[in-house]
Amino acid sequence: MPTIFDPISVDDLQLSNRMVMAPLTRSRAGEGNVPTDLMATYYTQRASAGLIITEASQVSPQGQGYIATPGVHSAEQVAGWKKVNQSVHAAGGKTCLQLWHVGRISHSFFQPGGAAPVAPSAIQPAMKAYTDKGFEDCPLPRALETAEVQALVETYRQAAQHAKDAGFDMVEVHAANGYLIDQFLRDKTNQRTDTYGGSIENRARFLIEVVKAVLQVYPAHRVGCRISPVSQFNDIDDSNPAALFGYVAQQLGSLKLGYLHIIEGQTGGSRDADQRVDFAGLRQSFKQAGGRLTMVNNGYTKEMGESAVSTGSADLVAYGVPFLANPDLVARFKHGHPLNAPDQATFYGGGEKGYTDYPVHAG
Ligand SMILES: Cc1cc2nc3c(=O)[nH]c(=O)nc-3n(C[C@H](O)[C@H](O)[C@H](O)COP(=O)(O)O)c2cc1C
Repeated sequence: MPTIFDPISVDDLQLSNRMVMAPLTRSRAGEGNVPTDLMATYYTQRASAGLIITEASQVSPQGQGYIATPGVHSAEQVAGWKKVNQSVHAAGGKTCLQLWHVGRISHSFFQPGGAAPVAPSAIQPAMKAYTDKGFEDCPLPRALETAEVQALVETYRQAAQHAKDAGFDMVEVHAANGYLIDQFLRDKTNQRTDTYGGSIENRARFLIEVVKAVLQVYPAHRVGCRISPVSQFNDIDDSNPAALFGYVAQQLGSLKLGYLHIIEGQTGGSRDADQRVDFAGLRQSFKQAGGRLTMVNNGYTKEMGESAVSTGSADLVAYGVPFLANPDLVARFKHGHPLNAPDQATFYGGGEKGYTDYPVHAG
């Protein structure tokens, strides 16, 4: 029976263990949303993870909704990411860039020309954005024209090319947590009447087209996708998540993706209050359709991760806050050392404090 410390490979991609660092927005990018040397230090400290999934990175200026999040659309950003990759690779780690567009979870403050944020449908989220004036309501978004949706697919392809140019081992399509792709998937936010709205097949079309575009750049085993089937984070929901995500898992599997990454329950919250979706069933559908690895996330402890991997229920376990606060999480789990406590006040923004100064276990 495998353990979370055993290596695993898909084709030519070899991971040294099955503990993945989950994507964590830290809002510390530099001028022009360029990854910094401090970010390289932070990720390199965590290079003993089997795979590091980076913080979400916007595929275009329009895709931004938070201060100081890194992008993957300019030459300077690619150069910054290249340094991150060189440093993590030199330390023996593997990297995966999370491709992101926030859609309606934004504010005119971030948008080119001060325009309204874009979304599948003009439905205002009950969410706030942090701007130069503090917290403000996310405004009413503008519904994308059909041709704009198609152009966005190309934007994702270009972003994947930039990720490849920057040296990422993999890319993850962020289809979770109420951002643009998830806004297309779920019917609370998608009320379109064109081929991108209505039936499950239509609502999943944008995701599938984005994934196929990314597959023009990376081979399938180096592309992952993250979903959060019942999470209501960012004011989102669906009337039938079991059917929707059953279809999505099957489609992504048939594209033979490297992994399907599932957030179980409410992101960062309750794992089992919402029983509408059978996550094990989704993982099986993905594999039966031809998908490669499955990755679980959300509130996993060492014991839960060990159980998921040793029973064959999942191949990889993504840890978010535990990796944030413990650069040497793999060694701590292996040797049974206690964990550092995370400091929520320094999760977003700032400098080294609460970022690169979490200690490794002494001794
Ligand atoms: C500070 C912080 C930033 C996060 N940023 C992202 C992100 O950029 N992309 C994403 O998909 N999830 C993000 N998440 C969610 C985490 O990846 C993960 O799903 C969540 O923390 C639950 O896993 P855990 O219990 O192991 O921490 C973030 C969570 C936290 C706490």
